[in-house]
Order: sequence, then C-alpha cells, then structure tokens
Amino acid sequence: MKNFEFCVGTDIVFGRDTEKYLADKIRPYGKKILMVYGGGSIKKNGLYDKLMKILEEYEIYELSGVEPNPRIESVKKGADICREKNIDLVLAVGGGSTLDCSKAICAATFYNGDPWDLVVRKAPIEKALPLATVLTLSATGSEMDAGGVISKLDTNEKRGFGSPLLLPKVSILNPENTFTVSEYQTASGSADMMAHIFESYFDKEKVFIQDEFAEALLRAVIHYAPIAVKEPTNYQARAELMWASSLAINGILGTGKNDNWTVHSIEHELSAFYDITHGVGLAILYPRWMRYILSENTLDRLHRFAVKVMGVPDGDDKEKVALNGIEALEKFFFETLNLPSNLTELGIGRENFKVMAEKAVQIGSLSNGYVALTPDDVEKIYEMCL
Ligand code: NZQ
Ligand code: ZN
Repeated sequence: MKNFEFCVGTDIVFGRDTEKYLADKIRPYGKKILMVYGGGSIKKNGLYDKLMKILEEYEIYELSGVEPNPRIESVKKGADICREKNIDLVLAVGGGSTLDCSKAICAATFYNGDPWDLVVRKAPIEKALPLATVLTLSATGSEMDAGGVISKLDTNEKRGFGSPLLLPKVSILNPENTFTVSEYQTASGSADMMAHIFESYFDKEKVFIQDEFAEALLRAVIHYAPIAVKEPTNYQARAELMWASSLAINGILGTGKNDNWTVHSIEHELSAFYDITHGVGLAILYPRWMRYILSENTLDRLHRFAVKVMGVPDGDDKEKVALNGIEALEKFFFETLNLPSNLTELGIGRENFKVMAEKAVQIGSLSNGYVALTPDDVEKIYEMCL
C-alpha cells in the first residue's frame, strides 16, 4: 500500500427532509447566496420552492440553465454575478453538472483572467468561495469530492480540474430528491459510479480493505440500480445509490493506490466531441477496455471481479470465467439497465478517433495506467465500441 493523506472536510447531512438543516449550516458564511441550478427539474419537482422557503432569511441570486456537461460560458456568467453582488456562498442544487459548474464559479470569482485557465491548470486555484450542495442525482460524487469537469465545446475540450478549496462545505443528501430522476439518468448515473470504483479497483496496487470495500459498493449498485429504475420512489434503493455515489469517489477507495482514471480519460474525449451523457460513454467503453486489457497480467483481477462482483460461477478455466464476468457486465448495462450498447447507436463514427485517442493518452497520462495504453491502443478500443 502506498503512503497517503486522507481528509474529506464535507459535512454530509443524509436522509429524508434534511434540507431543513441548510439554513443553519450555511449561516457562518454570510447572507448573500448564488443559487445555481440546471434546466428546470428542481422547479418541476418542487425542490426550488421548498428551498426558497427554508432560505427566506437569505439574499438569493440565481444562475439557472446549467447544461449537462457544463460549459465554461456558464462558469463566466456565475463568476460575474458573484463579483457584482459580492456573493458569500454558492449553493449548487442539482446533479454533477450543476455542482461542477458551481465549483468552477467559486474559483473563477477570484481570478481576473479567463476561467478556462483554471480548468486547464494554466493558472492555480488560490482562493474560492465556499460551496454548499443539495444533490438531486446520484452519479458523479461531486457532492463529496474536490474536483469538477467543464466543457469548451468550440474547441472540443472537456477537462477535469480540482483543488481542496472546492470541496463542498456541506452537502444535503436527501434520497427523495432523486425520485424524479428518469430511468435513463438513473441507469447512466449508476454506470458512472461503478466506473469510479473500477478506476481504483483495476490498479497495480492491491489493498485488501479498499478492494473488498470496492466489491461491496459495486454489488450494492448492481443490486439497487435496477430497483430504482423500476420503482423510482423506492427510498431504500435511492438511498443506497446516493451513498454509493459519494463513497465511490470521495478518495477512500483510491487511498494507497495509483487511482488511474484511464477509462474516464477515454470517455471525456467522447463527451468533448459529441456531448454525450458521461455514464453512457463509460458503460459502452468499460467492457471493451476489459476485453482489450485481458492478459496473463490482468487475469487474476478480472477473474476475481467476475466471481466476487458479477456472481459468475468459478471454474478451472480462469480466462473463461473472466470473460463470462465481462459478458455479465455487458448484460447488466445494456439489458438490465437498458443503456445504449455502442457508439453507432449514438450516431458516432470513427472520424475523430485518432485525434481523440491522442488527446486521451496525453491528458490522462495513459502510459502510466493499470495497463499502459498508447494512442493506437485507445483507437482500437474506440473501434471496438462501434
Ligand atoms: O438540468 P436539470 O433540469 O436539473 O436536469 C438534469 C439533467 O438534464 C436531470 N436531473 C438532475 N436531477 C434531477 C434531474 N431530472 C429529474 N429529477 C431530478 N432530481 O438529469 C440530467 C443530467 O444531469 P447532470 O448533472 O448532467 O448529470 P450527472 O450528475 O451525471 O453529471 C454529469 C457531469 O458530471 C461530470 C461529467 O463528466 C458530466 O459533465 N463528472 C463529474 C465528476 C466529479 N465532479 O467528480 C466525476 C465524474 O466522473 C464526471 O466526469
Ligand atoms: Zn465519472
């Protein structure tokens, strides 16, 4: 196990009706709030009105319309409001896109140049407004991590950024706020959290605690995601998924490991070029990546994954068991969760694969991954996804 430092300073308030604690929790930061939200789901399901009532003592400004795969333009708009109105705290109400956009706003408020500099690490994040979140979609774990992902569509770029300064001060996790999430977003969010777990589970460093914990979380998602898809108001299922999403990426699984983020880097190029749903891209890529990297070096881990996570019966032929595990994962994503199974279905062809593969390898440092990948390897993996 490698050396590590682990500190997550987010106050998680989990459960039914927990929004009622928000007013007290954010009082130390000041009175002026920028509430950031997406395309309107919180108005349709009543959460917006509920929060307005709870926060009536505060002076609230709003930034709405944050896009799935949030754009740098929204970050600029939010930072302008924060500077103009002397905002004390940003309150993100939504899914990962809204939370990520809010994180970038918190940092961009104190930066005089182009906020994209902060995303691509051309300039360091030195100061940030405090952030509170009310999560409405279980997927990214942005509610309990210090990172975010912002897109710049005119140049086909989607980049991750992060700083401990961006860790939410408080996150309200009420599973009931996810009851209205569609089947499609529930399924793709579940694929995303599984992918977060995979990024450190498939790692050169083996650590008993993290590996067993990862398997338990994966089994929880595999058990509860289909229930949440079929019964959107099943509290237990929504609660298990919500907590799994936070635990998958709050750093605990990656401690003592290399924490590779290989397949995420490959997916980010897909959403950068084609603006697709992140979890769908991951569901299409992961089984192909597993098939591509299966070798005597990875066999033990893929075999263990098949047996302990996918419930495949063990046998003498380890490779066959491992392949059955990958097939079971495909069935889970594409049949049980009914996610699109290939890029062709999404209208994506091979025209940009070469440039996407080169960018993924360079930005994600894929030569240092669990299995080192070259641009040629990544291009082949994209081809397998057609
Ligand atoms: O915009 P609204 O109207 O709110 O609708 C959203 C959006 O259309 C809807 N939705 C959210 N909560 C809902 C709801 N609909 C009904 N009821 C609710 N309660 O769902 C749609 C998708 O929302 P979005 O926030 O885009 O989804 P998600 O949470 O999956 O976030 C995806 C973004 O996060 C990034 C992704 O790359 C992508 O840009 N990621 C962030 C990470 C992080 N911060 O650590 C890590 C991830 O790997 C990921 O890259
Ligand atoms: Zn992800």
